[in-house]
Amino acid sequence: MSRKTPPTAAPASEETATFVPQVGLLALDRQYAVLRDEIRAAIERVCDSGKFILGPDVTELEQELARLLGVPHAISCASGSDALLLALMALDIKPGDEVILPSYTFFATASAVTRLGAVPIFADIDPETYLVSPADVKRKISRRTRAIVPVHLFGRTADMDSLVAVAGQAGLPIVEDAAQSILSTWRGRCTGAIGDVGCFSFYPTKNLGGVGDGGFLTTTRDDLAAKLRLLRVHGMEPRYYHQVVGINSRLDSIQAAVLRVKLPHLDAWTTCRQANAARYAAMFGDYDLDGRVTVPGDEPRGRHVWNQFVIRIAGGHRDALRAHLGKCGVGTEIYYPVPLHLQKCFAHLGWGVGDLPETERAARETLALPIYPELRPEEQATVVGRIAEFFHAPHLRRHEERSGAHAGHEAAAPPHFLRASRAVGRADDVRC
Ligand SMILES: Cc1ncc(COP(=O)(O)O)c(C=O)c1O
Repeated sequence: MSRKTPPTAAPASEETATFVPQVGLLALDRQYAVLRDEIRAAIERVCDSGKFILGPDVTELEQELARLLGVPHAISCASGSDALLLALMALDIKPGDEVILPSYTFFATASAVTRLGAVPIFADIDPETYLVSPADVKRKISRRTRAIVPVHLFGRTADMDSLVAVAGQAGLPIVEDAAQSILSTWRGRCTGAIGDVGCFSFYPTKNLGGVGDGGFLTTTRDDLAAKLRLLRVHGMEPRYYHQVVGINSRLDSIQAAVLRVKLPHLDAWTTCRQANAARYAAMFGDYDLDGRVTVPGDEPRGRHVWNQFVIRIAGGHRDALRAHLGKCGVGTEIYYPVPLHLQKCFAHLGWGVGDLPETERAARETLALPIYPELRPEEQATVVGRIAEFFHAPHLRRHEERSGAHAGHEAAAPPHFLRASRAVGRADDVRC
């Protein structure tokens, strides 16, 4: 079939007969099935204790996170959004101050800035990594700039060498939005431990997700740690004496108890995500999809933790492909369809179409595929096969080479907890 063929669904073939009928973007039930008894016991323990907010489980979790990430301070709070707000409050960001951040991110990165009356200044992204461009950050620094907020989007670390240099030259603090990047590294250091403050989310779809909202901050600075601990409890110390005006952003003990059950598995889950990413790359390489589908590259300078596996679809076919995949039972998502600088609520800031060309192109062309740790090779083969089917892309390997258990794509043997997993499921809300 010629490359020029307009993409339409191809007729059923020998190959489509092997596809599985449903591949959800997420299957949180598979993780829960394995940990169900431990999670329920942990919740019961908290209920029995009567210590529901900032209890012993929260303290333990904070210490475990600090050890895991190699930082002196991990401070829990009520969400990743609050973590960003608290970080900027601790840095004394005031009305009229400017904060530089990417437009290609989840809304919370910018809303934390505007909630303090400060002004988000949006920077464009690198088209290959989708991460904020240090050169554009540098260009946008002004007399009013007070902080830089890089986002380690999709689980990949932003170019921290360049960003630390740019921030250092200008004397600006860095707040890392690490909501999607727990356990990712840059030259051996965990994200969140490189800038002045790191902000993480326990939203259920994150690599370490709770059973509700939650988040935490990391810092190597004792002064900021003390401020953050004060700010998350209404600036209160001691009880009913308020030193500063803070907010109410405490982590529930139930969340902490559940997260402590999950934390020992995080590294293995991350390895499964990496194996799935490598398997996707190999599977896409088996089809003649050159120039149509761009698969994300790995990150040689650090650990990419693959919160999302995001492909780029050229030629204006992204939405039609997504519709085709939806019809075939393959779950996908667009992160994010409208860049922040073009959101209605920020219209008064004066940004327009064309201001951030790579950000706008990414919003038009990218598509996230299932990548969760418990995803099975035959499900990945279905996702890739359905995409190839849409483009009428021929398979480059002979049938006998790819028969059997997806020969050549076994990136890693599944650990024991994956073999116990159950039915395909789907989270109601797949916001990232
Ligand atoms: C990049 C980014 N920043 C911030 C957040 C906010 O986290 P939360 O949903 O826990 O408030 C999220 C996730 O939702 C995110 O993906």
